[in-house]
Amino acid sequence: MNSPPAVIVIFGATGDLTQRKLAPAIHSLTCAGRLAPQTRVLGVSRSPIGADGFRNRILDGIRKYARLQPEEHLCERWSEGASKFEYVAGVFDRPETYSEIAGKLDQYDKQFGTQGNVLFYLATPPELAPVIVTGLGLAGLAKRDLGWQRIVFEKPFGRDLESARALNQLIHGVFDEHQIYRIDHYLAKETVQNILALRFANSVFEPLWSHQYVDHVQITVAEKDTVGDRASYYDRAGVVRDIIQNHVLQLLALTALEPPASAAPRQFRDEKVKALMAIRPVGEADVVLGQYDGYQQTDHVALNSRTPTYAALRIYVDNRRWRGVPFFARSGKALTQKTTQITLQFRPTPQDLFAVGLSGSAPNRLMLQLQPEEGIKLQIHTKVPGEGIRTQLTDLDFDYAGTFSAARIMDAYERLLLDALRGDPSLFIRSDEIELAWKAVAPALTMADDPAFPVHTYAIGDRGPAAARAFLGSGRTWMCHCRSEDQEQP
Ligand code: BG6
Repeated sequence: MNSPPAVIVIFGATGDLTQRKLAPAIHSLTCAGRLAPQTRVLGVSRSPIGADGFRNRILDGIRKYARLQPEEHLCERWSEGASKFEYVAGVFDRPETYSEIAGKLDQYDKQFGTQGNVLFYLATPPELAPVIVTGLGLAGLAKRDLGWQRIVFEKPFGRDLESARALNQLIHGVFDEHQIYRIDHYLAKETVQNILALRFANSVFEPLWSHQYVDHVQITVAEKDTVGDRASYYDRAGVVRDIIQNHVLQLLALTALEPPASAAPRQFRDEKVKALMAIRPVGEADVVLGQYDGYQQTDHVALNSRTPTYAALRIYVDNRRWRGVPFFARSGKALTQKTTQITLQFRPTPQDLFAVGLSGSAPNRLMLQLQPEEGIKLQIHTKVPGEGIRTQLTDLDFDYAGTFSAARIMDAYERLLLDALRGDPSLFIRSDEIELAWKAVAPALTMADDPAFPVHTYAIGDRGPAAARAFLGSGRTWMCHCRSEDQEQP
């Protein structure tokens, strides 16, 4: 389904996110004919760059980030559409800015048939959200007489439970929950959605998916890059706010949730909420924090900053299905490689019937490699040819790209933009989910703020601090790559 006619109003139109993510997404959707021809894009920012300046920045963003080959040209649909991009220069706390936006919206409705529909997209630093929401409310733009109005928020949504609650309250004073779209771009990744397909479209895994058969679950969101030029944001966030509160807990919730009654968006979100509700508060023995060597010397990092760039957590989901099964989560910057994966390690067989083989009595594992080299691997014991029965752990392998080579995988931002325009909230986070996720990480945030709680150093390119390896170890094998045979001891 393509998008209905609408205006996309981007606050923070001259910022990094607009260039890096939104410009390429709008470009791809336009070229694929997924955006209604009436669609208009209105950029709003402080800088007086005018409509031409805005269009040039969007073009720069597409050239730099849309992965166009040098010989590739902007598609025909795009070339026809330059006039669809307009710009309002304005300060976000001035009513004049919103009156000017209102004027443009009325004009588009009359001239281009955008039918009153507006998607407000806040590509701004999070601290500007309250002032923009208030401005939109006062100008009557949150609820116009015609069409639908929706608003998209980027993460981080708040910086702890209290601030997220306050922000939700403020927004709910202006927009209804059904108008609000909070982004976690991990949810829009094909392989993340595939967790649900794997669990609920197959009958073979679900019966094993519980404390009866699963020994523990490993969730890894590892990055090779350092914080780079994002230190002014990152130093105030750290890995717990940047990755654990959102991406990791979403992966955990999708792995842990109960089967919903139907695939309706609300049902999945309700089940995620129940899983998040069952998380037991983590104690000090369940958390290891780290910071890569040299982080403190990065520009815009506070002197002697304790901000963790690595965290390993042992999380328990205290419900009937998962009681007693630890979910080990780890995430960090400047690690050996970029990989996102979920591994379920199953309990050993109750009886060692056969001679110990090459891989010893290694347990079965189901590994979901979410990125890169997306795929699924099930490790099973197989008889090694020869006399007697000696077994070896071997892989049943599914390779996403190999199987679906013809299909173009939509970028997460394309998918999110299209869904928000179509009014499908499935891949966005509800207010109660956000608050529960903050609640779940609250003890770890307190530890990070406590000068007495250790933040261990690790070398750039290492696997995180040694203290985490001890914590995550004890017979658990962490995979570092789905396709390769490497097995990493933490
Ligand atoms: C973002 C974080 O949400 O996710 C970044 O703010 C991180 O710090 C990024 O690098 C990782 O996303 P992806 O899609 O590259 O795994």
